[in-house]
Amino acid sequence: MVVGIGIDMVKIEKMQQAIKKWGGPFIEKIFDPQELENISPGKMYFQRLSARFAAKEAVIKATAKKYPLALRDILILNRHNGAPYCKLKKDIGLDILLSITHIEDYAVATAVIQTKS
Ligand SMILES: CC(C)(COP(=O)(O)OP(=O)(O)OC[C@H]1O[C@@H](n2cnc3c(N)ncnc32)[C@H](O)[C@@H]1OP(=O)(O)O)[C@@H](O)C(=O)NCCC(=O)NCCS
Repeated sequence: MVVGIGIDMVKIEKMQQAIKKWGGPFIEKIFDPQELENISPGKMYFQRLSARFAAKEAVIKATAKKYPLALRDILILNRHNGAPYCKLKKDIGLDILLSITHIEDYAVATAVIQTKS
């Protein structure tokens, strides 16, 4: 059963500016090293980081205040086929479904929370 839904949109330029200004400590405050393993600096770097930030915010919205989560509790990873998935550092007893998209200017993510099947 679906118990929550969340969406978030991030402007790539804002993420880029924040990373340029605050650098590594900013990235480490948001992302786990496991998430960064698959994101190499290059054309899509800021898009992919923005998309993961949007995905974390979407998960926080979807779980709302019932299951308080911090950004670093939420890992956004990719399956072998490229599909994103969410792994939580603490088990809240729910499944999280994710979808991500990004273009030059914006990244968008949606999250759906459902009871475990
Ligand atoms: C997977 C696919 C839908 C991605 O769409 P896209 O427009 O290229 O890219 P978007 O920016 O919208 O989305 C990118 C995100 O899709 C997600 N994604 C990748 N593969 C996925 C999959 N198999 N299932 C679900 N989501 C996937 C990823 O999260 C990716 O972002 P990330 O790499 O930063 O994690 C697309 O590549 C695809 O396979 N389309 C099928 C149709 C097709 O084959 N078209 C090409 C020939 S005409």
